[in-house]
Amino acid sequence: CGIVGVIGLEDAAGALLEGLARLEYRGYDSAGVAVLNDDGIIHRRRATGKLAALREKMAAGPLEGDRGIGHTRWATHGRPSEENAHPHFGQGVAVVHNGIIENFATLRRELIEKGETFQSDTDTEVIAKWIGHDIAAGKDPKTSFADAVSRLQGAYALAVMVEADPDHLYFARRGSPLAIGRTEEAMFIGSDSQALAPFTRYVTYLADGDWGWIDRGRMTVFGADGAPVQREEKISSASAAIVEKGEYRHFMAKEIHQQPEVVGRALTGYIDAVEGRTVPIEDEIDFAAIDRLLISACGTAYYAGLVAKYWFETYARLPVETDIASELRYRDVVYPEKGAALFISQSGETADTLAALREAKAKGCHIGGVVNVPESTIAREADCLYPIQAGPEIGVASTKAFTCQLASLASIVVRAGVARGVIAPDEEVRLCRVLLEAPRQLAAILTQEASIAAVADHVAGARDVLYLGRGTSYPIALEGALKLKEISYIHAEGYAAGELKHGPIALIDERVPVIVIAPEDRHFEKTLSNMQEVLARGGRCILLSTAAGVARAQEGGDLTAAITLPAIDPLIAPILYAVPIQLMAYHAAVIKGTDVDQPRNLAKSVTVE
Ligand code: G6P
Repeated sequence: CGIVGVIGLEDAAGALLEGLARLEYRGYDSAGVAVLNDDGIIHRRRATGKLAALREKMAAGPLEGDRGIGHTRWATHGRPSEENAHPHFGQGVAVVHNGIIENFATLRRELIEKGETFQSDTDTEVIAKWIGHDIAAGKDPKTSFADAVSRLQGAYALAVMVEADPDHLYFARRGSPLAIGRTEEAMFIGSDSQALAPFTRYVTYLADGDWGWIDRGRMTVFGADGAPVQREEKISSASAAIVEKGEYRHFMAKEIHQQPEVVGRALTGYIDAVEGRTVPIEDEIDFAAIDRLLISACGTAYYAGLVAKYWFETYARLPVETDIASELRYRDVVYPEKGAALFISQSGETADTLAALREAKAKGCHIGGVVNVPESTIAREADCLYPIQAGPEIGVASTKAFTCQLASLASIVVRAGVARGVIAPDEEVRLCRVLLEAPRQLAAILTQEASIAAVADHVAGARDVLYLGRGTSYPIALEGALKLKEISYIHAEGYAAGELKHGPIALIDERVPVIVIAPEDRHFEKTLSNMQEVLARGGRCILLSTAAGVARAQEGGDLTAAITLPAIDPLIAPILYAVPIQLMAYHAAVIKGTDVDQPRNLAKSVTVE
């Protein structure tokens, strides 16, 4: 999941641990480092679980040397165990790898025929064994590395260390991100700018298919075709300062509470607050010129895209097709002639989203990337970057990135509505003012945390939870269920309220809490009727609505609990209603005592298919 490499720093092992600590937020289940010491031997330490376990092993058996590679692993092939943790060894070779080698079984078979034996169940080990085998057979290290890379199919970011060539570290990327950092005396390899942030801001992002090596002062890069290339060095925006939890118990809590501020910042990228109008974005999609828009993403970002679909249809009269990226990339999509597509991604590195983007781009679509990390691959490959400016999101479960995605998308929708002549100038000013109200309303909702935490009590003990909503509240119901699943491990499902009667109503009994998301919009009465259907069957309902909405609902039956939200324009309802569902999931997880910031089995940035 995360890669760090260093050459030229006296305490390579210490630096590797520092880099890996920066990557912890991505989620992992084991970690390891290998260092090449001055007598020319590679030594490694590996441990399952958190970095603290690896740190302990390294304290007990320190590694000395000025070059090394490190890794945090998120299991794909082979369960999380010390044997499967990286770095993997071949003869005199150590490899760390992100991604999936699709033809590893073939390569493994070939190596077994040549007499190699394997110590792990991973796909990665074949790379180490392949290179080691060739070097032992007399091939020079650089050719051995290049040949091995040319045999790999699938996705990879690699850092490789070789005893036979102690003055270089090798790297390659295809499908998974990788960057090179530089200082006066040392060079670094990192899977993202966060990993490099403690050491340098001078970062070169590799292009897909790049491979090569670094020594203590230089990098040599070849493109996918094998020809030497130069890649431009950039000043990374990732801060060297460690992101701290501050007064909060978890990053997730901090990030939930940052939302008034970061949503405000996101909006400044799109709206001139003085004029009350949207501002142009460089290379933006020409919404007047298209008759259909494609939106794709994964996870939480996909639900932001679903909300945007409703908005584009209402405010810009633009037909929108949405799909999760892992499906879209393999569908036989009928792309319009001069189409446009939006890809939404917090990290900007999600493998499926990136692959779907490339497919749409190859089909001639104008690509907008709604992305948080401006140096990411998706941000760089999009024709137009729509920034969401949420700042580093550390909690694996996305919160502030979601509301910043929504705020950014709502602004893009208003701009599209104006461009398409659906939104009149006065209405543009009104909608911009509505959006600019969001931060203040978010802050007001956050003051209710204690009462929302009390409601979470009803959820924490449940085995199953249902979330219902209509219109833009439907994707919020999906997101609510996802948040709860991710961090509290409680089974939850989001449903369109009207679909309840077609199946899930069979689940209703007094043990299943049903969370009903019903702002006072044009769907309110209908959603209320669906809630009555639950109450009539003895279900326990928790309603999220305005004070008037809650009062209306109480006329029809007893609610288990209610969360009262401000009466606001329907445009910003999804942005605001996202917060109580985040807090509910958060407090349910805290009650259950789970690892809120790094829930089991999940990764922050999924760079494999
Ligand atoms: C992972 C994360 C989710 C995230 C999804 C998409 O599954 O755990 O929180 O929503 O990836 O990530 P992206 O970086 O593309 O928004």
